[in-house]
Amino acid sequence: MERSKIVNLLGSENQVDSVLVKGWVRTRRNSKTFSFIEMNDGSCLKNIQVIADGKLDNYEEIKKLTTGSAAAVTGKMVPSEGGGQKWEIQAESVEIISLAPEDFPLQKKRHTDEFLRTIAHLRPRTNKYGAAFRIRSELAYAIHKFFREKGFRYIHTPIITGSDCEGAGEMFRVTALDLDNLPKADGKADYAADFFGTEASLTVSGQLSAEMLALALGDVYTFGPTFRAENSNTSRHAAEFWMVEPEMAFCDLVGNMDLGEELIQYLIRFVLDNCEDDIGLFAKFVDKQLMKTLENILNNEFVRLPYGEAIGILEKSGKKFEYAVRFGSDLQSEHERYITEEYCKKPVILYNYPESIKPFYMRVNDDGQTVAAMDVLVPGIGEIIGGSQREERADVLSARMAEMGLDKEEYWWYLDSRRFGSVPHSGFGMGFERVLMLMTGIRNIRDVIPFPRTPGNVEF
Ligand code: 4AD
Ligand code: MG
Repeated sequence: MERSKIVNLLGSENQVDSVLVKGWVRTRRNSKTFSFIEMNDGSCLKNIQVIADGKLDNYEEIKKLTTGSAAAVTGKMVPSEGGGQKWEIQAESVEIISLAPEDFPLQKKRHTDEFLRTIAHLRPRTNKYGAAFRIRSELAYAIHKFFREKGFRYIHTPIITGSDCEGAGEMFRVTALDLDNLPKADGKADYAADFFGTEASLTVSGQLSAEMLALALGDVYTFGPTFRAENSNTSRHAAEFWMVEPEMAFCDLVGNMDLGEELIQYLIRFVLDNCEDDIGLFAKFVDKQLMKTLENILNNEFVRLPYGEAIGILEKSGKKFEYAVRFGSDLQSEHERYITEEYCKKPVILYNYPESIKPFYMRVNDDGQTVAAMDVLVPGIGEIIGGSQREERADVLSARMAEMGLDKEEYWWYLDSRRFGSVPHSGFGMGFERVLMLMTGIRNIRDVIPFPRTPGNVEF
């Protein structure tokens, strides 16, 4: 008999006479003549109740099923008399696949997030983390669905790279462990650097490669892991995170903002429509304001605010910030929070940042002071998207690179794209985990990644 998923059984309109369920025991209680077993198979938040009759052959063993044990149940679906679910299973057989010892750490009680982080290999079996990782999966699907519906091509950009897109020097170097046994790429006698004689790092962003594909295929996006060797001892930064990066040919900053806004709203709507139970858990136990926050984003146009005006607002706010701001300052999260949470009270797209604080590839505006950059900020999370219109003018780009001390020889291919059929183009990067934090109300990035990579977290 084929295994049924609990999600399908509980959602079934009709009674099914013969089912097979395999899963893990959440709880069991015995009455005189029956054992009631709550089973979960990870397909949904809900458990299915299994009623094992004392007349079953191995009833003595069934009575000893512990929390965390694995079992296979065959039986008949019957309407459930208790209030909880529509159906339960009258067991015809209960096969014990493996018995968990009593020291299984996830006994039925509330555990702190801090404790659960120390057992990252087991925490997906809790309601909360099971729900978070199911939403993670749905969200990834929704991203592909969104771009496909809009005619974007999904492209793959390299993980190992020689260029530092953001120019912040926050890269992890790639090192081969056994240099002696590697073929020498350039015939040089020894390895000064570790990628067959060349320096290489893990990518901080797929953007520069994505631009090359946008200039061939039109509208493209990448969606993959990126790496930052920054001090990620905050609740919003991880050393390894996933980024969604659309890049569009023939598109300016306004088109870029429109896409970012549409994408965020689409993802929220998708998750609300498709993950009702899982989102419900977060709205009930993690963030009581969650639905309000999400509806606020769905029902409002994002405020579009030039950086210069934001500085004015911050200066006039009368608030004592830890870091003072003036035109030219990089905004800290306290400033972003003030703008989104206190001043606008809705998502904000800040744009036209000073040239001096942004990377080389952003398009210089006519004022000569600012670049066509944008950051999308949402209440509670802060920056979720960072992007820009790209500098498509070969001469302006060359001059800016020279000014910033970038080696033009290293970027010869990037500059080539501005010589051959250059067009205005734009794109952005959206932090996948930041979106998940928004969707769930989880406020620590370590809790939306199954095995987070932050300082000290590399064991699992
Ligand atoms: O603003 P960032 O640094 O932009 C770029 O890397 C551009 N090259 C993207 C592009 O235009 N294609 O990063 C983009 C987003 C941020 O807004 C944030 O959501 C997320 O990536 N992000 C991080 N998320 C988790 N941990 C970190 N350490 C992150 N750094 C950035
Ligand atoms: Mg940024």
